[in-house]
Formats: sequence, C-alpha cells, structure tokens
Amino acid sequence: MSLASMLSSKGPSGFGYASTAEDVTKGLDLAGKHVLITGSNSGLGLETARVLAMRGATVIGTARTVEKGRDALAPLGGKTIPVAMELSEPDSVRACVRAVRALGVRLDAVIANAGIMALPNHEMLHGVEKQLFTNHVGHFIFVNGLIDTLASDGRVVILSSGAHKNAPAAGIELDNLSGERDYRAWKAYGQAKLANLLFARSLAQRLAGSGRVANALHPGVIATNLGRHMSAVTRMGLLAVGPLFLKTVGEGAATETWAAVHPDAAKVNGEYLSDCNIATSSAQGQDKGLAEKLWVATEAIVARVGGPA
Ligand SMILES: NC(=O)c1ccc[n+]([C@@H]2O[C@H](COP(=O)([O-])OP(=O)(O)OC[C@H]3O[C@@H](n4cnc5c(N)ncnc54)[C@H](OP(=O)(O)O)[C@@H]3O)[C@@H](O)[C@H]2O)c1
Repeated sequence: MSLASMLSSKGPSGFGYASTAEDVTKGLDLAGKHVLITGSNSGLGLETARVLAMRGATVIGTARTVEKGRDALAPLGGKTIPVAMELSEPDSVRACVRAVRALGVRLDAVIANAGIMALPNHEMLHGVEKQLFTNHVGHFIFVNGLIDTLASDGRVVILSSGAHKNAPAAGIELDNLSGERDYRAWKAYGQAKLANLLFARSLAQRLAGSGRVANALHPGVIATNLGRHMSAVTRMGLLAVGPLFLKTVGEGAATETWAAVHPDAAKVNGEYLSDCNIATSSAQGQDKGLAEKLWVATEAIVARVGGPA
C-alpha cells in the first residue's frame, strides 16, 4: 500500500489511519456518560479526555496526583473529575478504586491508557519487571476492582501496541517475570504490551454474554512523552521522519475513543483494534492458553502485593 493510500484509506468502520478522536465522535451526544481514563494528564489520555468532555461526557481521569490531574483536566472545560493513582503502587491503585467507587456512578467505559516504554535499564517493582508491573499488573488490579461498576453495556479499552510483536519467543516469560534474565528494553516493553492485549482477551471471555465488552488496541505511533526513556538519537531520528508516518495526537487518540463510545463498537468484544477497525495481532496475541496462564500468574502477583482492590 502506498503511503498516500494508507493515510487516506478507511476500514469497515468508516474510519481509518487519519481519523481523529473528534472525527469518530462527531454528532455524538455523550451527556450522562461516565468514562474513566488512566494517564489522563498527558498524550493520548489527555486528548481522549478533551474530546470526550467536549462531547458532553463526564471524564474521570487518573494522574499520579490529584493536583497533576486537576492541572491537566480543568483547562479542558466540561465535566472532569481528577483522581490520584500511582500504578506502580498497589496501595495507590486500590485507593483509587475506592475513590472511583465512592463517586457512586456506573462507568460506561474504562480506558486503561497509562503506560511507560522501553526503560533503558532493568528495574523491578515488587519482584516484577517494572514495565510489566506498571502497564499490566497495575491495570489488572484497577480494572478488575471496578468491573462490577461497569454499566450493563460498559466497555473496557486497553492500550496495547504494535510493539507487542517484539515480545520474547515465549510471549510472556512466566519463568522470568522479574526480567532479571537477559533484560532488553524493547523486548520487555513488547512483553508488557502483549500482556495488555492478553488481559483484554481473557477479560472479554469472562464478560462474554454480559453485554459488557473488552478490547485492546494499537493507537499508532505518536510523538508523546512516552518516548522520554528513548535515547536522544532515536528520538531525533523519529522526529526527522515523523511527518511521513507519525500520527498526530488527535489521530492517535481516535481508536481508544472509538472503542470507548462509538455505537458501532458496542458489540465488538475480545478484539485487537488499530486505526478504529478490527486488526490482526501476532499469534501470541491470540493464544488463549497463554492468556489464561498470564491471568493465573497475575493473580498470584496480586495476592503477593496485598490482594485485589
Ligand atoms: N505514543 C505512541 O506512539 C504509542 C504507541 C503504541 C502504544 N502506546 C500506548 O499508549 C498509551 C498512552 O501513551 P502516550 O503516548 O499517551 O504516553 P504519555 O504521554 O507518556 O502518557 C502516559 C500516561 O501514563 C501515565 N503513567 C505512566 N506511568 C505511570 C504510573 N506509574 N502511574 C500512573 N500513571 C502513569 C503518565 O503519567 P506521567 O505524565 O505522570 O508520567 C501519563 O499520564 C500507553 O499505554 C502506550 O504504551 C503509545
């Protein structure tokens, strides 16, 4: 496919590579809807919050502190509620679950958007490689802690990445969740993003038939703060070729926004999305056996760090 046709092509949803979060919500009145977004103070989460609030939704947005969330969300106007959550700290995640539950609302969508990428050096949290813990285990506690507050047609949207294809040969190294053996930054990020995808697949199976759905997605490649751990050379290289293939933040936020609120996505369950359409993940990303093993291993980690929310 040529670059020009990639940029202009649209899939069965009527949206495509260049659709923005504003495009996919055009004409939607989201008044009365409650959407929870993790990592709402930056990048794709902030843009998703902006557009959903503009369309009338109440946006409950997590940031590491309430002040950080308020500083980001208040200028958006509309109805926004900042809540604090540090994903790397289970106590903070559980406290955030309690704070959201205390709002007493039914959640129409939960978007597990926050994440970190490609830490140059090996780091661990609670005995687990840091990207896997932050991106996956933190969200596993968070989403499962709120699942019964989802509306009867509520949606869970989990940010994975095309980088899930960089996961190690085993997909998830269940015998090396600490990452101590042979740490490589992109492999570890790939594993964490594969874990996000497999979590969505497993959750979708558990939700099947309930009216609620769960999906994972690749948002595109977008210059956000996510690249903060990349070397200056890699970042400059990306920015140099950026205009050729980087999405804008509006385009990058489109798929999560579509999955969370577009009527056509209401019945889509257990899929991997890209450019606002169903896409094909790696074979590892479709491995139900691996997804179940990850679920069991994650439950064991959660039990070790103080239990579910
Ligand atoms: N940008 C891309 O090209 C791309 C491609 C594929 C997938 N994704 C995925 O898209 C999602 C959003 O990324 P982005 O590009 O918007 O990145 P971003 O601008 O760096 O935003 C990430 C958000 O996650 C939050 N976060 C990170 N670590 C956290 C922690 N320990 N506790 C609580 N919050 C934490 C950040 O908070 P702080 O601001 O306080 O750090 C920020 O709000 C990520 O899951 C990423 O993996 C992005």
